[in-house]
Amino acid sequence: MDAIDVIVTKRDGRELSADQIAWVVDAYTRGEVADEQMSSLAMAILLNGMGRGEIGQWTEAMIRSGSRMDWSGLDRPTTDKHSTGGVGDKITLPLAPLVAACGAYVPQLSGRGLGHTGGTLDKLESIPGWRASLSNDEMLGVLREAGAVVCAAGDGLAPADKKLYALRDVTGTVESIPLIASSIMSKKIAEGTGALVLDVKVGSGAFMKTVETARELARTMVELGTDHGVATVALLTAMDRPLGHAVGNALEVAESVEVLAGGGPSDVVELTVRLAREMLAAAGISGKDPEDALKDGSAMDAWRRMISAQGGDPDAALPRAAESIEVTAPASGVLARLDAYGVGLAAWRLGAGRARKEDSVSFGAGITLHAKPGETVRKGQRLMTLHADEAARFERALEALDGAYEVGETSDPSLLPLVIDRITA
Ligand code: URA
Repeated sequence: MDAIDVIVTKRDGRELSADQIAWVVDAYTRGEVADEQMSSLAMAILLNGMGRGEIGQWTEAMIRSGSRMDWSGLDRPTTDKHSTGGVGDKITLPLAPLVAACGAYVPQLSGRGLGHTGGTLDKLESIPGWRASLSNDEMLGVLREAGAVVCAAGDGLAPADKKLYALRDVTGTVESIPLIASSIMSKKIAEGTGALVLDVKVGSGAFMKTVETARELARTMVELGTDHGVATVALLTAMDRPLGHAVGNALEVAESVEVLAGGGPSDVVELTVRLAREMLAAAGISGKDPEDALKDGSAMDAWRRMISAQGGDPDAALPRAAESIEVTAPASGVLARLDAYGVGLAAWRLGAGRARKEDSVSFGAGITLHAKPGETVRKGQRLMTLHADEAARFERALEALDGAYEVGETSDPSLLPLVIDRITA
C-alpha cells in the first residue's frame, strides 16, 4: 500500500477500499504515514465525503488502533450519553448519577474543553480533590461503588483518533461529518457501553449551526452505533442560547448540585430528565422514573458517592473568582436573544476555557445569567454577572457580548425548541 494512492483515490472522488482504510489508519498511528499525508487525506475526505461503508470501516480501524473496554462482567446494563458540546452544557454532571440511581451503570469517558465550549473534566476538577485520571481497575471500582464514573480516556483508547483529531484541529479539517462521526463513535464504541444517547447540539454555540447538518451528523452516528451493536439514539437539542443560568466550571458544578437537590433551571432539569429516560430505555431498564430520583434524594446520594470515590469532597466550598461586574438591561422589554456563541466566547475570555491544550483554566471564572430569552426585563436590571480572577479580563469579555443580546418587544420567533428532533436507527 502507498499513502499517495490512498490520497489520490479520495482526491478524485472515488471510494476507499476496506484494505486502503485499514492500512492508512494503522500506518498513520504507527508513524509510517506522515502528518502531511494524513492532513491531505483528511482534506480530501472533507471535500469529497465518504459513503456509509467507508465511514464504518474508518471507525472500525480507529477502534482497532487501541484497546476496547469490556463491562460484560457487571450485573446491570451500561448506558452512556455524549454531547457534541455547547455553552453551559453541564448535563453530564447531574445525568450520570441520576441514571445510576435508576438502575444502570454509566461508564463515561470525557474530555477537557477547547475553545468556547467547556469540558466535563474541567468542571469536575473544580471540586477540591477530584481526580480525572483512573486506571481501568479504579474505573470499575467507582462504577461498582457509585453506579457512575466520569473520567479521562486513557492513551490506549482509539489512539488513532487522538493523533488525527490534533492534526485536524490545525489543518482546517474538523468540520467533516464523516470525520466527526467516526471520531466520536470510535471512542464511544471502544468505551464498551451497551447503549448510547447522543445529544447533538444545534445553533451558534454548537459545532452544527443548522438543523439539517445536525440531523445528518446524528443519523451517521446512530448508524455507526447500531452497526457496532450499541443501542444508539440521538436527540437534536437547542444551542442557540446557553443552557441554564451558569457558564463556567465551578459555577456549572453548583448549578448541577441544585438540579440534584430537586431545583435548578427548568431547561437543565427538562433536558437531564429527558436524556435520562432515553438512556434507561436504550439500556432496556424500566422501573424508577428519573424525576422521582431527583425528588427523593437518590440521585444526590449517587453523586456524592461518585465524587468521593474519585477523591473529591462533595461538601467542600467551590472556587470563586476574585472579581465580578454586572451587565444590565439597556431598556425595558423582553430579552429577545442571548447568543450562545457570544456568551461562550465571553466566558472563555474570562478564563473559563483554554486556548491551547497545555493551558490551565480558572475554576471560578464564567458568567451567571440572570435572565433567559423570552423573560421580561426592566431597564437597569441585572442581565449577567461576569466573574474573573483578574479585572483586566472584563474588557475583552464585554466586547464578545457586544451584540450578543437584545431587549425587544417580543421574543425572537426563530428561537429553537429545547428538543428539536429524535433520531433512531
Ligand atoms: N469531538 C470529537 O471527539 N471529535 C470530533 O471530531 C469533533 C468533536
